[in-house]
Amino acid sequence: MKKEKKILVVGSMNVDMVVKTSRIPRVGETLLGGVFNQYEGGKGANQAVAANAIFPGTAFCAGVGGDTIGAEYLKYLRGRGLDVSLVRSFKGAHTGVALITVAKEGKNSITVAPGANMLLSPADMRKIDFSKFSHAAFQLENSLETVEAGLEQAKLASCVTILTPAPGRLLPNSVLKNVDYLVPNEIEILQLKRGYASIDSAAAGLLKSGVGNIIVTLGERGCVYFNGEGKTSFKPCSVRAVDTVGAGDCFTGSFMAGLRIYGGDVGKAIKLATAAAAIKVTKAGAQSVGTFAEVKRMLKKF
Ligand code: RIB
Repeated sequence: MKKEKKILVVGSMNVDMVVKTSRIPRVGETLLGGVFNQYEGGKGANQAVAANAIFPGTAFCAGVGGDTIGAEYLKYLRGRGLDVSLVRSFKGAHTGVALITVAKEGKNSITVAPGANMLLSPADMRKIDFSKFSHAAFQLENSLETVEAGLEQAKLASCVTILTPAPGRLLPNSVLKNVDYLVPNEIEILQLKRGYASIDSAAAGLLKSGVGNIIVTLGERGCVYFNGEGKTSFKPCSVRAVDTVGAGDCFTGSFMAGLRIYGGDVGKAIKLATAAAAIKVTKAGAQSVGTFAEVKRMLKKF
């Protein structure tokens, strides 16, 4: 019997060290914060956990340090039901760390020391049998060469590809041409090419560069979808946010799983992703995603 294809996230694993404050500190300022917490994070792992809540058995490929933190993190991901057989452990490197400040109303600022995430290589991408996967998602917390090679290999194997261009940076057409769904936020979309002044003009330029579809996430204002036929706005799910860290990752991971279970219906996948991200922001921690049952309940209120 033919095996059902899985979905794959290639990306980062970080330990998130989070301090709650009344506001984000200014440059040069020391701010006395509040409670400290440590959570599992990293844009890739966040996406993989969110996707797995909707589509169990999601596979994850990453670089982890040869430290205790890395070993514990891997054990935790296995415990959440992810297939981590493609995660590479790098002796002598540290697992990625993110220093995060979460201010009132859930606003945040993040600094990442990528460690082992940057050691995942283009050669690692060429070793993956992408034909086992129907969809593959990437972000930009690995080296650009690795992301470029991964997208290329995934496209060659006819995967539907998704890229979250975060952290935002300039991207060459050699990367963009292999992206079926680009999912930036409203800041990141303007950072992808020089001279982009508005979301609409950036989206038009990116579609010309070969990107298939673009979904710009707008936080509490929902999101907007661009493809060759035009632009469609999607409303948000209104909730009281306590922690927005990982909300975009939850959106993308759930979106990919949604594309998979709804046979490529973009509108349905976007609504599912919006509901999933709304649940995530009501809880602390980048991977505090809802179950599929909770997401479906939230969808009914949408
Ligand atoms: O997108 C949120 C994530 O960004 C955090 O979990 C942190 O690890 C950084 O990678």
